[in-house]
Amino acid sequence: MGALEGRVAVVTGGTKGLGLKITEAFVAEGARVVVGARGGAGADGALAHLDGRAVFRQTDVRDPASVRALMEAAADRFGGVDVLMANAGLSRPGPAAGLAGADWAQVVDTNLNGLFHCVQAAVPYLERSGNGRIVTMSSALGSRPAPGASAYCATKAAVEMFSKVIALELAPKGIVVNCLAPGFVDEGMGRLLKQNQAVWSTYAPKVALGRMGTGREIAEAAVYLAGDAGAYVNGHVLEVNGGLAW
Ligand SMILES: NC(=O)c1ccc[n+]([C@@H]2O[C@H](COP(=O)([O-])OP(=O)(O)OC[C@H]3O[C@@H](n4cnc5c(N)ncnc54)[C@H](OP(=O)(O)O)[C@@H]3O)[C@@H](O)[C@H]2O)c1
Repeated sequence: MGALEGRVAVVTGGTKGLGLKITEAFVAEGARVVVGARGGAGADGALAHLDGRAVFRQTDVRDPASVRALMEAAADRFGGVDVLMANAGLSRPGPAAGLAGADWAQVVDTNLNGLFHCVQAAVPYLERSGNGRIVTMSSALGSRPAPGASAYCATKAAVEMFSKVIALELAPKGIVVNCLAPGFVDEGMGRLLKQNQAVWSTYAPKVALGRMGTGREIAEAAVYLAGDAGAYVNGHVLEVNGGLAW
């Protein structure tokens, strides 16, 4: 039996990158998944290989009504929501002094306000589940300063503290909350960073294992936090970064 057999998960940003790897791992462990993302070209097709066990619902986490509709869609389709995997996120690089206000706002709206909207919309369903889980998505940069990534670092630091607070608030409702903090991963934005040799060469020597992580390695940590094996881990930030000396 899979670690998530019979469970229903909502994964934001599950159309590509780490979110898609997590969606695939959740399905492989027996879950049914509703993926919410704004959905560029091919968003539906990204899930086609999962045979209807993961379905796409167009969602913008910056919009509370859109996120409420995502949770409703999951409950209508699969009967409830047991796991919220709040993965959607983005970065807009640039030194803080010169960063466009619109870029700052987009990162805050997506990474932090979007998480708030997802949690508010999911809690009634997770409470009804009786065994609800929230896994939030930070980054190694949530606790390490990276020049040129002020909006990203600041929002991920906030995600970690928000997760710790709601873990205490939601425990009486039977909802367990943890936060995943991947390091540099060869998927999504991590893969893009690796393609920029000038930047990657400054970070690569800091990784003790001497390589990027894989999407699968991050997804397995997400399965752990979403499943019964992680039941007594609560309010924790789980770093999965190969040993980052920085
Ligand atoms: N890859 C890494 O090395 C790494 C390391 C540490 C942490 N992380 C974190 O892992 C998460 C996923 O990153 P990734 O690298 O996989 O990025 P990615 O490949 O760019 O994927 C981001 C996902 O988020 C969705 N998204 C963005 N804005 C959204 C919005 N407003 N509403 C709904 N969905 C939205 C995107 O879909 P649409 O564009 O269609 O909306 C996409 O599915 C992020 O939170 C990131 O900070 C990644």
